[in-house]
Amino acid sequence: MKKIIELISDEMKNAFEQAGYARELGKVTLSNRPDLCEYQCNGAMAGAKQYKKAPIMIAGDVAAKLADSKVFERAEAVAPGFLNLILRKEFVGEYIRDMRADSKYGLEEVQAPAKIVIDYGGPNVAKPLHVGHLRSAIIGESIKRIARYMGHKVVGDIHLGDWGQPMGLIMNELRVRKPKLVYFDEDYAGAYPAEPPFTIAELEEIYPFASKRSKEDEAYKADAMACTFKLQSGVRGYRALWDHIIAVSVADLKKNYERLNVDFDLWNGESAVHDLIPQMVDAMRAGGYAYVSEGALVVDVKQETDTKEVPPCMILKSDGAALYNTTDLATIMMRMEVEQPDRIIYVVDKRQELYFEQVFRCARKTKLVQEDTELRFLGFGTMNGKDGKPFKTREGGVMRLESLIQEINDEMFRKIKESRETTDEEAAATAQVVGLAALKYGDLSNQASKDYIFDIDRFTSSEGDTGPYVLYTIVRIKSILAKYAENGGDVQAVCGGIKAPVNDSEKQLMMELAKYNASVEAACEEYAPHRICAYIYDLANAFNHFYHETKILAEEDDSRKAGWIALLVLTRDVLETSIGLLGFSAPERM
Ligand code: ARG
Repeated sequence: MKKIIELISDEMKNAFEQAGYARELGKVTLSNRPDLCEYQCNGAMAGAKQYKKAPIMIAGDVAAKLADSKVFERAEAVAPGFLNLILRKEFVGEYIRDMRADSKYGLEEVQAPAKIVIDYGGPNVAKPLHVGHLRSAIIGESIKRIARYMGHKVVGDIHLGDWGQPMGLIMNELRVRKPKLVYFDEDYAGAYPAEPPFTIAELEEIYPFASKRSKEDEAYKADAMACTFKLQSGVRGYRALWDHIIAVSVADLKKNYERLNVDFDLWNGESAVHDLIPQMVDAMRAGGYAYVSEGALVVDVKQETDTKEVPPCMILKSDGAALYNTTDLATIMMRMEVEQPDRIIYVVDKRQELYFEQVFRCARKTKLVQEDTELRFLGFGTMNGKDGKPFKTREGGVMRLESLIQEINDEMFRKIKESRETTDEEAAATAQVVGLAALKYGDLSNQASKDYIFDIDRFTSSEGDTGPYVLYTIVRIKSILAKYAENGGDVQAVCGGIKAPVNDSEKQLMMELAKYNASVEAACEEYAPHRICAYIYDLANAFNHFYHETKILAEEDDSRKAGWIALLVLTRDVLETSIGLLGFSAPERM
């Protein structure tokens, strides 16, 4: 379906043409003065010079052509030359009826779907998920869902950190603690045990311990690096031990992401490209791109137009070891081979922006990608505490994701118990659903690149621009529909019968609904889930206003009542589809 703003502009453009002026002048925008009109057109002002006429005269000519318009109830020329516009109720009602009949509520899928890989999540094996990983997961998941809904072919890849120095640190510490483990016996030729020699809790304790010690103890650090080297060069026992680390860690990660309603098509890690590195390095050397500098293999990526220093991209360290760069470049190579994407999007902390600039330039220069392959870095800001500093626990440590979710759920649970009689069990289940909405909406409603303040009280509030507010609105609609059915109404039978609005708040609600296709499209084009948040917030407000002004169930005119029920069903469907794009859902009751 065309966007409502396009239909309105078309009508206005026709009027300009009929009055003898250029069509392009008939561009319509939302009103700057909602107290005076709904939409406006400033084309007469723009045309004054060209036609050597006072704008008000042009506006008057155009308004005259709109006297019998099927779109505008009123098109009024006002000084100094604006056209103030009020839409016809029938026109709005018809648009909403068409929206109802359309499978995506008037949204048209893209004409040329792109193949897109989204790299998001990016957790590191054997390290607990912390709040930094939360943003990547929440934002990436939403962008993936939006792009898919628009018709693109999207593959989400978690890009596990599973191959670098942390792996060596863990293995080395295991060797120190349990030297008798068969994995470290280089003469051992038998099969390795199927059971891992540690639990996830042990793993998570080992990494920070080993990391700290390696900073204080050179010999220890050297041992850890030797372990990394053994793993990367394929020593049997180290590979077997690493397999256990991955299995234990991935099982735990899956559980955590499931709770967040986040899922990945690919669970590839940095390790997945290990075997591709030699061939990539050879090609970079053969192409004359890579050279040895101070022992390391590098590719220059600076450009004349750079205003700041862009260091060379390091491909191999002097000891021949691969780096974060190396695996990222080889991953691009693999993705080009396997997925052949038109676009690769990285949803990563914005502090890695320069790093990705280097990687992208290097990938282009060394021809890992095609000229028209788009590499896109979407950097997100930091989640801060109320003190404006990166979010910490009360004790000052790094906040684990699990604890953060727990805190939100506990607060939600408390609010639910306070507001109504329920069992603990039901309240806990609802708190989980609403808590996730609070967390995700709190994040997604900000422009992703900005830092934001994590504020539990505000995020969990049922009033204002919050997830729970949107959910309350949906639950309210569901409860009205349930009552209508209880009183003998048939929701299914009436839901196609949307009518022209009879009052102002109903018309407002319809005009908000009508912005659906434009909002989702903008969210996709700009990689901006916050556009959908803004849309549903306005929509929820318009609905609640309508609800307070209108006695829906007590209405005596059955046909009018049925029309309202149909409008409610559409509002619910649009809201639920929208929150689905954001990655959360609504409960039946709150
Ligand atoms: N594991 C990385 C980290 O925790 C994030 C990975 C981002 N993605 C990428 N392709 N480098 O910082």
